[in-house]
Amino acid sequence: MKKTTLTIVAACAAAALFAGSEYKPEQWNIAAREKFAAQRFGIFIHWGIYANYAQGEWYQQKIGIDTETYGRMKDGFCPSKFDAKEWVRVFKDAGAKYVTITSRHHDGFSLWPTKVDDGYNIANTPFRRDILGELSKACDEAGLQLNFYYSLMDWHRKDYPAGRAAKRVFGEQKGDYASYKRFMLAQIGELIDNYHPGNIWFDGEWEHCSHKDGVWHRYLDWDFDTIYDFIHSKKVLVANNNHQPIRPKEDIQLFERDLPGEGTSFSKNQPMTHDRPVEQCDVIQKNVWGYKINERSFRTPEDVCAMICRCAAKDANLLMNIGPDGSGRLPARAVEVMAEVGKWMRANGYAIYGTRGLGLVKNKDGSQTGKTRKGDKVFVITIPKGAAGYPVVETLKAE
Ligand code: GLC
Repeated sequence: MKKTTLTIVAACAAAALFAGSEYKPEQWNIAAREKFAAQRFGIFIHWGIYANYAQGEWYQQKIGIDTETYGRMKDGFCPSKFDAKEWVRVFKDAGAKYVTITSRHHDGFSLWPTKVDDGYNIANTPFRRDILGELSKACDEAGLQLNFYYSLMDWHRKDYPAGRAAKRVFGEQKGDYASYKRFMLAQIGELIDNYHPGNIWFDGEWEHCSHKDGVWHRYLDWDFDTIYDFIHSKKVLVANNNHQPIRPKEDIQLFERDLPGEGTSFSKNQPMTHDRPVEQCDVIQKNVWGYKINERSFRTPEDVCAMICRCAAKDANLLMNIGPDGSGRLPARAVEVMAEVGKWMRANGYAIYGTRGLGLVKNKDGSQTGKTRKGDKVFVITIPKGAAGYPVVETLKAE
């Protein structure tokens, strides 16, 4: 009897923690949100034909070339060193519990043999192998969750209504959103049915909105209700990196290169939610997501560990990005950094995984103190100023 009551109380408490207002998430959804939040640390992968240009994932837009010219690189994309098992070994060894990869970034190129596009995908490169399929298998074998980044913005298709950023590629392009939405839904259906991701992670909505005089202005009706309902009907979570306040049907709140709740960069007008899992995504090469050959500003392992701790104290996950090169290799320095992060995580992960954040404060000497909690234990984490050393964990009994 007592046990039943406790279970109900625990279930209600969990529902209250991770339920959005207005929208009533089902039980599978609440359980999936909890599972995601407990993972605390994931690896983000930005990879596509842009890796061959070696100038970051915005290269096409930055130099303003049409998709026809840029897309010729598809015929030279043959990452012979790609080894999904080796990637996953590095990620798991770093202490990551999940991987989120760009299934299709803004350039519109798909990393799986999608049947619903015009051939702008991995099946039509000399490589031909199903990258997402191989990664999904390797993740399953290693017990890591795979998630998919999916770009809403597109620099390839004629039916995409170009916003501020895409205009640099297309000029004015009115597009046909109903057609584009059908295409996205068909692709998302393939991604979910073929590879069973934990979440679909959208990005690019921001090119159709702006924040002026305290108000959000939105210039395209994306019909997110239909898209989100479709994803939910397949029991997959939804996240959207739109830099806006979270919507009721979004399951995970994303912060781009900003500690949740700080509002210092893209999240200036994005209040932090406290009723759903939160994830900060950030870069290991400080200024870029996709591979950039001349970008050498790698974070140190101490810095990455400090970021994991700050996120955990803020009750958030950290999604740390790596951009593999055109041959399919992870940059050597990223691999070294991750190996060191893994050592720290193996020794201190008990203060991170499966905890709830209790807050983060700045001390007079410039260090920070973060607190997390699990069961009857409170973990006090001291993060040295400027990440000059590794964070130090002290365990207390909860009061
Ligand atoms: C930005 C960039 C994009 C990157 C994303 C990751 O939105 O446009 O290139 O994929 O951030 O958060």
